Amino acid sequence: MARSTPSRASDAPRDAIALLKQDHRTVEALFDQFEDAEESEQSQLAERICQLLTVHAQIEEEILYPAAKEAFSEDEEEEDLVNEAQVEHTSAKELIAKIEGMTPDDETFKASVTVLGEYIKHHVKEEENEMFPALKKADLDLKEIGSQLQERKLALMEQLGIQEEEAPAAKKSSSRSSGRSSNSSKGRQARAGSRSKSASKGASSRARH
Ligand SMILES: [Fe+2]
Ligand SMILES: [Fe+2]
Repeated sequence: MARSTPSRASDAPRDAIALLKQDHRTVEALFDQFEDAEESEQSQLAERICQLLTVHAQIEEEILYPAAKEAFSEDEEEEDLVNEAQVEHTSAKELIAKIEGMTPDDETFKASVTVLGEYIKHHVKEEENEMFPALKKADLDLKEIGSQLQERKLALMEQLGIQEEEAPAAKKSSSRSSGRSSNSSKGRQARAGSRSKSASKGASSRARH
């Protein structure tokens, strides 16, 4: 099958870290939207969150984490960062599967998405504060990994039949929702970065010793 790569051909290739951070911001904004959304919108938002996280986790597991493990092979603590991230993905994916099997009528639907959001915040903080800085120092071609991630991401999104979701700054409007949440989503995205991160408190305490 001919790969219908980049609808984003005009974009300069992003390095792996920029690409993954953009995914993180996108999904954080969606979690924020979810918290404020009407019940009628929650199901769609949860579905999107689950799909984007599934793709994100998969490209990290297929491409980034193996490259990181190899690069970190001399340093046990750095290698542990990758092992822990993999374990966290496994737990997140279990929760994602549960949410995907729920309807908004389910008593624990909203709570499950909220907990997933907190969990992901913690995970993202570890990636961005520990793993990514270590990757930057390692001998890796992050641009090359970035283009592999992007290519795989687009292929997976196509498989799942979902649109690419941009980070707030590079937002292109989704053709999928008929505008019903687009107004409010901007404000929520704008404050996405300023929410308290109580869920991630434990993240830094275990760093290195
Ligand atoms: Fe991850
Ligand atoms: Fe990530």
